[in-house]
Amino acid sequence: MGWAARNATIARSVDDKHAGEGSLFVSGRGAFWNGAAYPLTTLVTGKTYQVSAWIKLPSGATSEVIKITGKRADDTDNATYLEYNTVGSATVSADAWTLIEGTYTPDGVTPFENFIFETNQGAPNETVSFYVDDFVVSGEAAGELAPFTCPKPNTTGLAVNGDVETGVTNWAGRGATIAANTEVKYAGDASLYVSGRMASWQGATFSLSPIVAGATYSVSAWVKFGAEQPTGTIKITGKLQDDSDANTYNEYSQVASATVTSGEWVKLEGQYVPGNGTPFESFIFETDDPSATASFYVDNFSVTITAAPTIDTGNGLAANADFPIGVALAADGNASIFTSVPRQNIVKANFDEIVAENIMKMSYMYTGSAFSFTNADNLITWATDAGMKVHGHALVWHAAYQLPTWANSTNTNFKQDYATHVDTVAEHFAGKVVGWDVVNEALFDAADDSSGLGSANGYRQSVFYQVYEGPSFIDEAFIRARAKDPNAVLYYNDFNTEANGDKTTALVNMVRGLLDRNVPIDGVGFQMHVLNDYPSIANIRASLEKIVNLSPTLKIRISELDVRVNNPYDGNSNNDYKNRDDCVFYCPGLATQKARYKEIVQAYLDIVPPAQRGGITVWGIADPDSWFYSNNGGLPDWPLMFNDSLQAKPAFLGVQEALKGI
Ligand code: XIL
Repeated sequence: MGWAARNATIARSVDDKHAGEGSLFVSGRGAFWNGAAYPLTTLVTGKTYQVSAWIKLPSGATSEVIKITGKRADDTDNATYLEYNTVGSATVSADAWTLIEGTYTPDGVTPFENFIFETNQGAPNETVSFYVDDFVVSGEAAGELAPFTCPKPNTTGLAVNGDVETGVTNWAGRGATIAANTEVKYAGDASLYVSGRMASWQGATFSLSPIVAGATYSVSAWVKFGAEQPTGTIKITGKLQDDSDANTYNEYSQVASATVTSGEWVKLEGQYVPGNGTPFESFIFETDDPSATASFYVDNFSVTITAAPTIDTGNGLAANADFPIGVALAADGNASIFTSVPRQNIVKANFDEIVAENIMKMSYMYTGSAFSFTNADNLITWATDAGMKVHGHALVWHAAYQLPTWANSTNTNFKQDYATHVDTVAEHFAGKVVGWDVVNEALFDAADDSSGLGSANGYRQSVFYQVYEGPSFIDEAFIRARAKDPNAVLYYNDFNTEANGDKTTALVNMVRGLLDRNVPIDGVGFQMHVLNDYPSIANIRASLEKIVNLSPTLKIRISELDVRVNNPYDGNSNNDYKNRDDCVFYCPGLATQKARYKEIVQAYLDIVPPAQRGGITVWGIADPDSWFYSNNGGLPDWPLMFNDSLQAKPAFLGVQEALKGI
């Protein structure tokens, strides 16, 4: 996500800026609507956002009104004015930076698209070029989620206020009569009245789906006997479908019971763990003698899932593989591995290699005048003491928010700093890491064109590419890394390369070129940040195969594996899990996710020959650690193998089964 050109040319400029190191220069505009656009996917319908930016014209330009427009996706009518809303405008000159500010409230008729920087139609100087700097959108935090709206089965709050308020739903009589009763109720407008009973087992049932075998459910209801009925016991029983044998004890299990009178409402509550035999059928409300035929009321029946099925992690993951099974670890801040002993135990039990999720990236290493290795050294010491190897990530990566100041603009010392960074970091960690992502994400990606400059023969026009006026910075990083750390396995690493599209072709061409020029590249990492339903496994396999075939000595890693259950790009929000709780313990998407993890590991085993396997690394331990947890294109997600409670998920079994060949 970032700036995009809108029928104009946009470029980072270091000539003129309001603050910091650079600004955005917008030129080549042929009409009032041409300019620059900034897409955002996280604005919440109905919330008000403060929007501001500083604007200036290039020297010599005549003053003109520049405006910021909020744009939502086109709808089907021809009235385009409804999709565009002016946020703020100001007359801007070439003499001084001018602040434009205003507010914007997405109306949600169609999804929000972007903020556009443009001029007014018919303005005297309609096609003027301009600089933009310090663009800020604030308000409800990015990543704040839109309210749940789609009619999708929810796994929490399974019975809504007992399901009697708006007609009796999900309930059925069991040899008895049931009806909503609006006179006697615990809360709300109605309760369920159960009458006409001839035996203790008769009463009412409540059916639910999905109920997952092995998960823990909290079940409760308020109950009371009808007027003048004897005091006795009311029970809730969980019932599975009948199996083929004559014994009934597997199918019925008591969830809750209490002594109840006709005077006061009493709360029944208990836990239910459906067994693994037959599928769940219903919850039954029944009584014991001496109230075997007594009528009773039920209200506020509630069922919530409170724990996922227990998954036996057996001998873990790494023990089942003869190549490294790794995990990315946070090593600073609240989520640091050092703050969580349970996470440390998961790592030791399942993995034999680690990678720093962030703290070995460029901005953490070298400021331009000093190096800081302490945090990384501590992490490596911890991992090494625990018998694990460390893979280095990443010597060179363009992402602006993890670049040091020296590398965030095209300053004159850039090439010197670049060489110093690669040399010193590679030398410091020599013997401590087994490999490096030497260069990360140097190929162009249409969905992540952060410079806004488009593709240069398949390469991303990153700051490195701009300074070196081409891809030679890649060769240089590999050559320097090899010189300082001859034993490390040196990888090129990238994302979306598993989709078997243009980027895969660019990867093949680039690696072939590096090999032809004898640049010391040893391997290729496929980040593998994928979705439950994208890309196809056929394309993943084909992509792996193309790289495997380049050279029998090339190593292949799956370097940052995670699998998102939501696809926010498929245009179908009915598929989406939108509540934070939806998939914490169980949702059907987690079963698909298991199959997906499994088929990816199977593809790796099938296609990458043993001698070429550099390993598989997952991008985090548990869902809350994931970079997609609270913002996968504006939706929450659950992409990793352990859940919020650090319980193993079905995905874990998917990987383990694939490694074991079952
Ligand atoms: C991500 C981390 O997971 C986040 O914590 C951080 O805020 C941004 O970077 N490709 C990479 C990784 O190579 O370094 C990125 O990691 C994810 C995409």
